[in-house]
Amino acid sequence: MDFNFRVNDIFSNEITILTKELLPEQYLSMGMSARLDCINKVNTVLDEIGWASAKAQGLLKPITSGGKLKDSEHILYLLVDPGTSNGRGSVVGLLKIGRKKLFMFDLAGYQHEVEPLCILDFYIHESKQRTGCGKRLYEYMLKHQNVLPRQLAIDRPSEKFLTFLYKHYGLEHILPQMNNFVIFDGFFDCDSGDN
Ligand code: ACO
Repeated sequence: MDFNFRVNDIFSNEITILTKELLPEQYLSMGMSARLDCINKVNTVLDEIGWASAKAQGLLKPITSGGKLKDSEHILYLLVDPGTSNGRGSVVGLLKIGRKKLFMFDLAGYQHEVEPLCILDFYIHESKQRTGCGKRLYEYMLKHQNVLPRQLAIDRPSEKFLTFLYKHYGLEHILPQMNNFVIFDGFFDCDSGDN
């Protein structure tokens, strides 16, 4: 995904963590005009990749945009490829997470009020799918959050994502829920914020 500015100037690492400030860490200490310029560009990137993700999932509206991230406590991991577009860099994918208060059923049918980390949006550009980019982004998030794959709740996973979770993490047995979130066997074996 190319932009009319140098992606590498804004995102200097392969994976950048973004939160409501819409600023990569190295920009936080910069002057006002550099920060505003960066926020505008990050906003453009998130709006565009948010739409691409929505289209890929057959959604009418994006789950991710600059404005939505700004108004949330969500954490977004953005993957770039610095070696493309004549050295300008391109944006490859996103993974967005956040905590949500949910009622979840365990295998025995007991309901629990929990506040687990949830996967809210996950997208890799079509030109890069099935080349390991999704795994790279997911692994980075798991380490950064110090969580196991089975501790996460997933908001309406697509078939591709379910296949991904089975292939890379052996997640297979879904615990049926009354909401749109999917959790797997083992979710309640560890501390997932159960009240
Ligand atoms: N069909 C079936 N399985 C797929 C497909 C596909 N088209 N694409 C990826 N997978 C699964 C398979 O298990 C695949 O292994 P295989 O190629 O050996 O069969 C594995 O993922 C590949 O792993 P990665 O290369 O690391 O994954 P990728 O970079 O493709 O990222 C992702 C996975 C994010 C699901 C990507 O395919 C994508 O963006 N899909 C479209 C959008 C989408 O469905 N996002 C998830 C929405 S749900 C949510 O966000 C909560």
